Amino acid sequence: MSLGAVRSHLRQATAPAHARVDALLPHGVGRRSDYAAYLRAMHRFVAHAALPDGTREQYLPLISADLRTLGIGADEVGSATAPSRDRYERLGWHYVFEGSALGARVLLRQAGALGFDAVSGACYLNEHAASGRWSDVLRQLEDSTPDPGQLGRLVAASNTAFAAVEAALVDALRIERVPA
Ligand code: HEM
Repeated sequence: MSLGAVRSHLRQATAPAHARVDALLPHGVGRRSDYAAYLRAMHRFVAHAALPDGTREQYLPLISADLRTLGIGADEVGSATAPSRDRYERLGWHYVFEGSALGARVLLRQAGALGFDAVSGACYLNEHAASGRWSDVLRQLEDSTPDPGQLGRLVAASNTAFAAVEAALVDALRIERVPA
């Protein structure tokens, strides 16, 4: 199946940003400390990202529950960033979050090997991996006909979203790797 032109462009334009996230977790979440860092980072991302209504409410409690299972208290959350008024900027943030469900399927297997599952410790990954919203994002990308300015805003917003995840992950790994 060929990728739509807009998605293909977006994927290529954000590949370096995804690679930076991957490089921070070279073993995925195969180690408990890396899984803890991933959950801390996704908690911060979902709490503050400019995502569609309901996304934060759906996922934040699950991430908090998983953190508690690992013995970690979730950080206090402030208010979420209001989604942009620009359709393409909104779509960029949405693309990054829903696209992360593809990786979540891989990470879910690793969390399973650590002893976590849909009932305890991997509630978030389980629900996210099973979400059908990625196909909504793909449809929106496919149906869109952005002009160069709109395409630029789509790519820039996606890279901003990736940068937010990366910064959250850097901080979380620093916390997890502090020697006891
Ligand atoms: C170590 C952690 C991660 C791994 C192992 C991983 C792995 C993957 C994999 C296997 C895919 C599917 C590629 C395909 O089917 O063609 C993917 C896609 C994607 N991931 Fe990740 N991922 C990780 C973290 C993240 C994070 C934290 C985010 C953002 C919050 C993210 C955002 C995306 C996006 C947007 C796509 C879709 C790219 C596209 O095909 O258009 N990933 N990832």
